[in-house]
Amino acid sequence: MLSKNFRSGALASAIAIAMTATAAFALGGAPKADDDAVAARIQPVAKIEMAPLPSAKGASVSRSGEELYKAVCIACHAPAAAIPTSPKIGDKAAWAPRIGVGLDVLTKTAIAGKNAMPPKGGATDATEIELARAIVYIANKSGANFKEPTAGAKIASGDRTPEQIAQAACLKCHETGEQGAPKLSDKAAWTQRGSKGLDAVTKTVIRGHGKMPARGGVADLTDAELKNVIAYMLKRVGSGG
Ligand code: HEC
Ligand code: HEC
Repeated sequence: MLSKNFRSGALASAIAIAMTATAAFALGGAPKADDDAVAARIQPVAKIEMAPLPSAKGASVSRSGEELYKAVCIACHAPAAAIPTSPKIGDKAAWAPRIGVGLDVLTKTAIAGKNAMPPKGGATDATEIELARAIVYIANKSGANFKEPTAGAKIASGDRTPEQIAQAACLKCHETGEQGAPKLSDKAAWTQRGSKGLDAVTKTVIRGHGKMPARGGVADLTDAELKNVIAYMLKRVGSGG
């Protein structure tokens, strides 16, 4: 077991490196860090104050894999990151054995932390799905061919209003049009679907349809919950979000 101090030290260094990287970008410099300078900065880890981590923009919009990578993981997984033991993005040899264990295991490892990798990579506010997407982003640039997990496999029992379910499980596709999903902002795409009536549409969603997973990917949603979520979504159609 790693000591608590060691982990928070790693976290603090991640923040320090992240801040360094940000400063380099702000100055218009290349993201390539000056290794000596970074090393000097991460040495006195104990002196670095804990800074708040970059959190999700907006209350409930979840970050893409690329966004989380660029906000947090890049500090240690960028090609020029100063930390010696991390597998760098694009380093196929370093990633091959890790990719071999599969996305689920990698996600569990990333949540728990491993050696110099702090739990959740230091992104303490990241959800499991955000982390999994960040791993997909990193691994797929390093020889993997992982599929992005779809949102909402699990929704906490306290977070089950129609709005919360839609945010967690449905808007990932229906706000962005991902996988060809009809966007909520696209009134025309919904007029014909909605005209079938709420019960008929609910039946379609329970079964799944084309690239739309059964129950929108949330296996434990009851029919009634699903119907309420769909009603909520249909109400938002054309309202501009
Ligand atoms: C403080 C530096 C640091 C940060 C920040 C960081 N990592 Fe890591 N990560 C590491 C190190 C070091 C390892 C190698 C651990 C080992 O194998 O000893 C690693 C390994 C991993 C692995 C492979 C785990 C395995 O089974 O070998 C994954 C996946 C991963 N990181 C994902 C992430 C993601 C996603 C983020 C951002 C949310 C992130 N990391 C942020 C340092 C970091
Ligand atoms: C992985 C992306 C994805 C997720 C997640 C998703 N959808 Fe969909 N959804 C789609 C796609 C794609 C279609 C269009 C299917 C088609 O017409 O072939 C669709 C269609 C629909 C339709 C119209 C069905 C019809 O009769 O034409 C409704 C209603 C709907 N989704 C509701 C939901 C709800 C509610 C959730 C969350 C519980 C959800 N979706 C989650 C991709 C998704």
